[in-house]
Amino acid sequence: PELFGQGRRNSMGFDLHDVTELERIAKVRSRPEPFRVEPIIAGEVKSGEVEKAINPATGEAIGEVVTASEADVETALSAAKAWDARVDERADILRKASDLFERDFGEIFALLGTEAGKGLPDAVAELREAVDFLRYYANEAEKLSEPARGLFTCISPWNFPLAIFTGQVAAALATGNGVLAKPAEATPAIAAWAVRRLHEAGVPKTALQLLPGAGSVVGAALTSDPRIKGVAFTGSTATARRIQRAIADNLEPGTPLIAETGGLNAMIVDSTALPEQAVRDIVASSFQSAGQRCSALRCLYVQEDIAKTMREMIVGAMNELTLGDPWDLSTDVGPVITRAAQADISGHVDAAKKKGKLIHRVEAPTTGSYVAPALIEVSGIKDLEREVFGPVLHMATFKAKDLDKVIDQVNATGYGLTFGLHTRIDDRVQSMADKVKAGNIYANRNQIGAIVGSQPFGGEGLSGTGPKAGGPNYLTRFTRRAVSSHGE
Ligand code: NAD
Ligand code: ALA
Repeated sequence: PELFGQGRRNSMGFDLHDVTELERIAKVRSRPEPFRVEPIIAGEVKSGEVEKAINPATGEAIGEVVTASEADVETALSAAKAWDARVDERADILRKASDLFERDFGEIFALLGTEAGKGLPDAVAELREAVDFLRYYANEAEKLSEPARGLFTCISPWNFPLAIFTGQVAAALATGNGVLAKPAEATPAIAAWAVRRLHEAGVPKTALQLLPGAGSVVGAALTSDPRIKGVAFTGSTATARRIQRAIADNLEPGTPLIAETGGLNAMIVDSTALPEQAVRDIVASSFQSAGQRCSALRCLYVQEDIAKTMREMIVGAMNELTLGDPWDLSTDVGPVITRAAQADISGHVDAAKKKGKLIHRVEAPTTGSYVAPALIEVSGIKDLEREVFGPVLHMATFKAKDLDKVIDQVNATGYGLTFGLHTRIDDRVQSMADKVKAGNIYANRNQIGAIVGSQPFGGEGLSGTGPKAGGPNYLTRFTRRAVSSHGE
């Protein structure tokens, strides 16, 4: 695990306080044009089904998605080639792509808002992370001399539709692989935007192809064809298991699966913590991005001496949250990704209410797929049967003498992604970091928003295979260098 204090923020090549830029973004947003996304393959598209793209904030159709057919997957696989260029040439092209990402920021902010329901601060952070991945992996690749593996399948989730999509693709390309990229069903237009800029920068069309479609069809085909020599996946632990089985049954022995998966993340707040700071970080960790981050806080443990005060302060802070249009700068919590996600998360909160465990729930807009942030009482993290991927915080209390038992409970989940800690006892920070099994441990700050290059991100156990994304060892798994699957 790695322990982080206050995060360093790096800056983009534009200034959001600049009124002209804000006006430019607002203009793009006020004239959204319906889009049509198609597979981007080096060959003729035969096309599968046409599906509607939905804006999660309004429930309205905003475009059409032509999904890849099985014939398209075959055409793409037949045309696909590793990227046969010198590493410095590849790195220069990825750096050029990062400049194009920044150049077209208004367009991608609009798409992140309409297709993924992201608010402006999240959209800025996403673009920054995508740009950082491109530059970081370009620079890291220049330090490596090992050959590429061949063709890589990259499968990404909808919750970081630009950053994670770009990070996986950039890593595979920087090391000279050819990429077949399958974006999440809900966010293919954002992925297509990225692919077009990578092609414009000079990535060959045979080295990067985009195949939108269902995981069970396109994803399954791209993880069971022996021409594939590696898979980078980010998504749920259940899907990672399915892919692992497909690889074992169909691909060469030893084919790497780099999987970044789910989490059941905890935070411990002891009685020495600064309550105002802790509450601010609890609220950000639980409800920012509508709780749709793998890193998000799911189970808070508060020392019983301060539990009553903390509970009142958290409820007070929840009441201050503004839910609404993700593009309104006063909005704190936007929609969740789909109606199905809304029903699933709300069902979990309703069940807690029936059991008399709902401490607080705020009001949510009735249009679009909003879920009201909720606080649920639990006896411990073992009461959470699964990762509920939305703005729901569970809260337990503990006695000072039971601190080690709490850590045992957290470790017993088998997940190990992020862990947060608020304390003013200096020795406790390191001793807890030594005991907790989690990839990223954050002390006296929130536990979301790892920064590429300075806070490598990834989990242990059920939360991922490693190596960590945005860290110095990530690229080695995309090459033929022999390394253990874990590590930084
Ligand atoms: P998901 O597993 O449902 O889907 C992820 C991707 O896998 C999608 O592109 C989907 O189409 C594809 N897929 C589904 N079935 C497949 C199959 N049989 N074969 C191949 N591909 C298949 O996850 P999601 O709902 O998109 O994302 C949310 C999950 O992702 C959460 O569990 C979250 O914790 C996790 N996540 C983890 C990280 C991390 O870095 N650890 C980051 C973001 C999200
Ligand atoms: N890397 C993302 C975060 O740290 C998931 O929140």
